[in-house]
Formats: sequence, C-alpha cells, structure tokens
Amino acid sequence: MSSVRTVVVPAGGLGTRFLPATKALPKEMVPVGDRPAIQWGLEEAAASGIRRAVIVTAPGKDLIKAHFAPDPGLEAVLEQRGSPELAERIREISKLCALEFVEQPQPLGLGHAILCALERVQGEAAVAALLPDDLFSGSPPLLSQLIEAYTWEGCTVLALRRCSKEEISRYGVAAVEGDGPVFRVSDVVEKPAAEDAPSDLALMGRYVLTDEIFSALQATRPGHGGEIQLTDAIRSLAGRGRVVGVEFVGEILDVGTLESWLATNAAIMWQDPELGPALRARIQQLEETQL
Ligand code: UTP
Repeated sequence: MSSVRTVVVPAGGLGTRFLPATKALPKEMVPVGDRPAIQWGLEEAAASGIRRAVIVTAPGKDLIKAHFAPDPGLEAVLEQRGSPELAERIREISKLCALEFVEQPQPLGLGHAILCALERVQGEAAVAALLPDDLFSGSPPLLSQLIEAYTWEGCTVLALRRCSKEEISRYGVAAVEGDGPVFRVSDVVEKPAAEDAPSDLALMGRYVLTDEIFSALQATRPGHGGEIQLTDAIRSLAGRGRVVGVEFVGEILDVGTLESWLATNAAIMWQDPELGPALRARIQQLEETQL
C-alpha cells in the first residue's frame, strides 16, 4: 500500500491556449489517442498505488464527472452487440480510483486550485498532485517514482526533467544541490530567461506535497497574472530545506496547447502497432503530393 493515498487533480483552468476547442469542452477531456487526457493521469495514479482522487473542477465542467461515472446502460449495449472487451474497458474507467469532486469557483491559479482540495485531504501527511495536461510515458509510473523519494525524504517532492536552453523559459526551474537523481531544491524560478535559469532542471506536472504546502499556500499572495502560484508556495518550503526534486526516468508529453497536443497524438499513433503503419503511409503520401 502506497504511503500516499490521495491524488489532487487540478482541472479548473480555462484552457485559453487551446481555444476554441476548449470553449465548451474541458481541456482535460480533449482526447489523446483513444481516451481523454485526464484518464491517462488517473491511470498513472492508480498504477502508482493511489486509491483516491480529488478532482478540482470549475462551474460548467460537468463532463469530467460524467466520464468517470459508471454507465451500466452503455456496458449492456456493448455486451449485447458482442463487444465484451470494450464493455470491460468502459467498466474499468469508473473503478480507477475513488473519486471526489470539488469546485474552484474562479480560476485563481494552480495554487488556489490545490488549496480548494484542503478540506478533502485534511489529516493526510502528504498528497500527490497531477496536472492532467502533462502525460507520462514510461516505467515505473512517474508518481510512483516521486512517492518512493517521499518515503525516504519525508518532504515535498518535485518531478524534474532536463531541458534545452530553447525550452527552459517555458517552465519553473529548480536551483539544486547534490548529484541526483534526487536533488535538494533550494529555490524555484518561474519561467526564467535562459541566461537566468539556475539549472537545466525544469518542473513537470507531478508532485508529492506535504501538508505544510497548505499553510504556505494560505500565506501566498497573488503573483504572476494575479494568480496564486503553486511555485511561490513551494519556494517558501524550499527556503526551509523541505523540498527535493527527482530527475525521473521516462518522458513527459504535453497536451496543453494545439501544437503540443498534435505532436503527442502523432507520437502515440507512431508507436501504436496497428495505427503506426497507417500514419507513416499517410505522411509519405503527404510528402509526395507536396513535392
Ligand atoms: P494550465 O495553466 O496548464 O491550464 O494549468 P489552464 O489555466 O487551464 O490553461 P491556459 O493557460 O489558460 O491555456 C495546469 C492545470 O491546472 C489547472 C488546469 O485546469 C490544468 O489542469 N488549473 C489552472 C486549475 O485547476 N485552476 C486554475 O485556476 C488554473
């Protein structure tokens, strides 16, 4: 049994970088391969031994709840039509984790979204947090890698990935001490210019957050964009020596913008034994007709 039993999944944002697709469709419900982005996240959490998820949604994002609700009518139709395997896959969606939903009344930032989950996780020494627009590909599951580090270190754990100079200014970047793969984090700088980045280790959307994060978030004033930033609260814990970062094994695939979503879908299709050949043939055909 995992030492971290709950994952908080912030899904209350507006998804403005993916408009107009996300005008009515929650960004977290945009399909990646054959399932919504947020389902990939909950599958990773379940594979990491997490049994409970608190999903922070916003008014009008009811589709997320609908997706994870049992649907015996659909299952019966699939069984009758001779698709028991598909019926089983549908059944499994509602069994991934015990789900609870909290509403973030306004999109006041990622830190604020995490704070909205406080009453559901009070009394837990630490919770995991997973941003559903970062998909993980690899083994072991990324959250399980962070939970293992938490078991040894007993403090907040960040997921770190090495980034090139060109991409580093899109991320929060950690100032670190030690040789890794588990580093002590002394500071985090949000979206630095490449020349100001304290390292090439960028934060990806997975965390183990100890309960100290909630008092740090309550003390955090609105920062960049008028939002309550999770990074600001993590900085205050880092200043007290209460944060480590793990340079994890595996790959993060972003699906938060149209460009990254297209690239991630292409990568998934490319690797799929059935769909991959069709994609390669189509690309070849496109190249030939563009000549
Ligand atoms: P993002 O910044 O990627 O999502 O936040 P966003 O704000 O929806 O997207 P843009 O920037 O407008 O395009 C990462 C995660 O945090 C959640 C988002 O739903 C997403 O899953 N989030 C963000 C919240 O839950 N509440 C917020 O106030 C902001």
